[in-house]
Amino acid sequence: MKSSERGAEVARNHSPSRKGTASETSTGDNARLIVGISGASGTVLGRRILELCRELPVETHLVISRAGEMTAAYETGDKRTDLAALADRHYAINDIGAAIASGSYRSHGMIIAPCSIKTMSEIATGVTGNLLTRAADVMLKERRPLVLMVREMPLHAGHLRNMLSLAELGAIIAPPVPAFYDRPRDIDEMVEQMAARALDLAGIDNPYLHRWQQEED
Ligand SMILES: Cc1cc2nc3c(=O)[nH]c(=O)nc-3n(C[C@H](O)[C@H](O)[C@H](O)COP(=O)(O)O)c2cc1C
Repeated sequence: MKSSERGAEVARNHSPSRKGTASETSTGDNARLIVGISGASGTVLGRRILELCRELPVETHLVISRAGEMTAAYETGDKRTDLAALADRHYAINDIGAAIASGSYRSHGMIIAPCSIKTMSEIATGVTGNLLTRAADVMLKERRPLVLMVREMPLHAGHLRNMLSLAELGAIIAPPVPAFYDRPRDIDEMVEQMAARALDLAGIDNPYLHRWQQEED
């Protein structure tokens, strides 16, 4: 099923009780998800997560690094304003006084898609020099889901050590790796599958994820 068809299906299922599903722990009606886009290849993943969330009872809060802006412009032609238009709220990367910089601001979790090695390393070492890494650090200290779609290859031992540190701190390391058993027909379907899986890992129920050997509801 194409995302537009699934979107329509989700819209049909938007009963008040369903709206509460992903957010009971935090923000009233809608889940509040922080989406970060850093400068690794694959900014389309962040874009697709924002697009899927528009079809779900999820409020998105977006922060993009400077390199994320550059990479998005290079790879997809997206400008910061194009991506910001897909989110409910958008913050400047240096706005370290923004709401999402504080643990007292309630949110359900955060996905960084894609996550560069630089951003990953800052989070792993507790260096939180911008709003993106500060918001991620907040997720760790508040014990909320933090999904990092780390994109680099090959990986050296330093990268792997930082990944291990992050996993020990509770982050979910989720590199954008396609599942070929799902028989994606094109890149668009691969991107959607990875975006849906990241949402699922962040605790956001969504109908875009095809689960292995599970009947569609
Ligand atoms: C087109 C392009 C593709 C890039 N791809 C990657 C990548 O896949 N992984 C990565 O870690 N860095 C990648 N980089 C380098 C990062 O953008 C660079 O390390 C940057 O400093 C990351 O900053 P940020 O983490 O603040 O976004 C890429 C840069 C460009 C311009």
